[in-house]
Amino acid sequence: MNTIDLLQQHRSYRDFSSKPVTATTVSQLITTAQHAATSIFLQAYSFVSITDPKLKAKIAKITTRPFVGGNGHLFIVVADQHRNALLAKKAQPDTDVRLLGSADRFLASVEDATLAAQTLIVAAESLGLGTVVLGSVLNDTSALIELLHLPKLTMPVFGILVGYPNSQNNLKPRLPEAAVHFENGYQEPDTYSDALQSYQQTLQTYYQNRSTNQRQTDFSQIIQGALHATQQRTDLLRILHQQGFLTEKD
Ligand SMILES: Cc1cc2nc3c(=O)[nH]c(=O)nc-3n(C[C@H](O)[C@H](O)[C@H](O)COP(=O)(O)O)c2cc1C
Repeated sequence: MNTIDLLQQHRSYRDFSSKPVTATTVSQLITTAQHAATSIFLQAYSFVSITDPKLKAKIAKITTRPFVGGNGHLFIVVADQHRNALLAKKAQPDTDVRLLGSADRFLASVEDATLAAQTLIVAAESLGLGTVVLGSVLNDTSALIELLHLPKLTMPVFGILVGYPNSQNNLKPRLPEAAVHFENGYQEPDTYSDALQSYQQTLQTYYQNRSTNQRQTDFSQIIQGALHATQQRTDLLRILHQQGFLTEKD
């Protein structure tokens, strides 16, 4: 499959066979992910592979999704300025490393981590593997930080479960291009309302007819669902401060 087709065939998988993802494949995925672009070449991220079944079970509990504890290789993707802080201090002990926790460097570490993660996902898909990103590992971020011994200037971003799919979900239709691609400035949604209306229909049809978990919904209801989710993760700003991020004054 060519790369464009591969990317346009992306879907998340939540049901994996018992075929293991070998250590060689894991290593190949990480090495490939490391080739992603990275802000100021700081490579401000780490991946933690969860190979201890007990630890995986604890993380699955945090997500509240039992499939996370089942088949598949679990990575936790971490925004990481800790390594850079230590290396800077080692080279020059009086270096003030607090700037590595600034909004600018925090965002850059999340950007780095996300670009590397997406590269890993595409690499996995190119090998016939399926993946799912797991923001739900942040349902109890403090517990996750403790379980993984994450030091200051690190923050878990999400998990990625990778495995050989047992079954395939339907392709999920995306917003029309007019809704996400503007020319020379921002466009308000009422300027592409026809395209949005037609998307609502497309999405309704998708949810009514998909192979599993069929339901009546459209994009507006999905947004409502996000706003009324039980897990609002309101502790994240406090945890970011505790981890040494976003501590600069306005
Ligand atoms: C940051 C992020 C967090 C996500 N968290 C979860 C999650 O916790 N559980 C889950 O089942 N899927 C999760 N997903 C997957 C999305 O639900 C999925 O990508 C989206 O519904 C589009 O479906 P598709 O990937 O099959 O095209 C997450 C995706 C992203 C980008």
